[in-house]
Amino acid sequence: MAHKKKGQVLCQLSELEDLSSKSFSVKIKRKKTDIFVIRKDDQVYAYQNVCPHAQAPLEWNPDEFLDAEKENIICALHGAIFSIEGGGCLGGPCEGIGLTAVPVEVQEGEIVVIS
Ligand code: FES
Repeated sequence: MAHKKKGQVLCQLSELEDLSSKSFSVKIKRKKTDIFVIRKDDQVYAYQNVCPHAQAPLEWNPDEFLDAEKENIICALHGAIFSIEGGGCLGGPCEGIGLTAVPVEVQEGEIVVIS
C-alpha cells in the first residue's frame, strides 16, 4: 500500500542536481504562491519567489536563482544576495530582510511542501 504523502509533491529529488534550483507554483494557505527549491548536499531549501527589496521575482532565467559561483541566491533585478541555507540577506539592497522560507522535506525520494 502506498504511503500517504503529507504535503504537496513538487518533484523527485533526483530531478534536481546538486546546486541547482527549480521554480514551482503551489498553494499555501489556499493562496497560489510562486516558490523555488534549491538542492545542496542532499538537503533541500525552498523560499517564496519574492525579493524583499522590491517584491520582484528573483530568477535570472527560468529555474536560475543562484549566483555564478553557486554559493548564494541572488536577485536578478538589483543584485541582493541571500544565503541558500536560511535565506538570510547577505548584502545588497535587501537591507537585512531575508527571503520567506517554505517548509519542504524529502519523503521517499520526492520533494514535498509540508505547510
Ligand atoms: S528587487 Fe531584488 S534586489 Fe531589488
